[in-house]
Amino acid sequence: MTNRVLITGGAGFIGSHTALVLLEQGYELVILDNFDNSNPKALDRVKDLAGSKALELVEGDVRDPTAVNRAFDNCGSVEGVIHFAGLKAVSESVTNPLRYWDVNVNGSRVLAATMEKRNFRTLVFSSTSTVYGEPENFPLHEEMPTVPVHPYAQTKLAVEQMLNALCRSGNWRIACLRYFNPVGAHPSGRIGEDPLGIPNNLFPFITQVAAGSRKKLNVFGSDYPTHDGTGVRDYLHVMDLAEAHSSTLNHLLKQTSPHQLTLNIGTGCGFSVLDVIRGFEEATGLSIPYQLVSRRPGDVPKLEACPQKAKNILGWSATRDLAQMCRDSWAWQRANPTGYRDVL
Ligand code: NAD
Ligand code: UD1
Repeated sequence: MTNRVLITGGAGFIGSHTALVLLEQGYELVILDNFDNSNPKALDRVKDLAGSKALELVEGDVRDPTAVNRAFDNCGSVEGVIHFAGLKAVSESVTNPLRYWDVNVNGSRVLAATMEKRNFRTLVFSSTSTVYGEPENFPLHEEMPTVPVHPYAQTKLAVEQMLNALCRSGNWRIACLRYFNPVGAHPSGRIGEDPLGIPNNLFPFITQVAAGSRKKLNVFGSDYPTHDGTGVRDYLHVMDLAEAHSSTLNHLLKQTSPHQLTLNIGTGCGFSVLDVIRGFEEATGLSIPYQLVSRRPGDVPKLEACPQKAKNILGWSATRDLAQMCRDSWAWQRANPTGYRDVL
């Protein structure tokens, strides 16, 4: 029996942390990545941190059946596939929807078709809490309506639907994980999130302000119906998310009949933008200058998970708090002011 896993997009933010957790659990990994939004250095550091060389890279595009077949050829046989390769920028998905349908949906289709042909039928898929749209009732349960309001979320929901149909058609074991807001970094500060250009997301922006490479944070919206008027999100430490993947994979591998699972992966605890600024300042002793500005188009007031189903089924729940998310994000930023690159 092999203990080999194929990870698409394994050089990215979540993929690299998950690769580390799996290597530490004794899995052998094959990573398929085209480095569209990542750097091969991340994988060197993952191997260093794990003290393991059981990680092989196949550089290629998940939409290309030849590259996907090459990755499987390198695996010989795999126990499971974790599919991170995809695009995640909401605003880009609005201006360039075809790219999102191509990479996210067509990429997943090519991967699933290749898996089916080769009779590998165990898959964990990266979905998103944005499939819930602009919900009004919290916390969010998996059975609540999905109302994706932009192409990014629409493509993720389309893949969930394609995978659910596959499960009904044959002997697949598939889990769709709806991540809330992954942040933080490995506590070593050696791997982390490395956005290109001006960061869109809150944590990378805050750490760049803390480092002095940006003057101040714009807080997008202070008139939301939340406890202090700023947007509330369910932030989740990326190491907790990485561990959720290994728990999910281990759960799927125990199933002896077709299995379909959709799980929220969050903490169940929402923080506003101002809560995060205060939390970061307390955790690091640094000050974050900010100004309140108008809402960012496309933002919703609040997202907060009910994480109970993941706890019941996987026995997994998040263990790291906001202070640790802030400390580890800052440790990564401080040690790698230009990310994995030589210049920002
Ligand atoms: P990331 O951009 O850091 O990682 C994605 C990886 O996929 C990168 O290494 C990139 O080079 C690779 N990739 C992109 N297109 C590819 C292609 N066509 N072929 C092969 N490789 C390709 O993003 P992340 O934050 O690690 O997210 C991983 C997955 O989780 C994505 O599918 C994303 O949509 C999803 N997700 C992320 C978040 C988040 O907040 N980070 C939230 C919900 C869901
Ligand atoms: C965004 C995406 C989401 C994607 C995730 C990871 C949108 C609408 N959603 O989530 O689909 O999966 O990133 O890529 O783009 N904020 C500020 N100032 C900033 C940055 C953010 O105030 O400079 C606020 C936002 O308004 C929001 C909160 O911080 O209230 C979190 O924002 P962000 O980190 O971008 O995550 P999401 O918008 O939740």
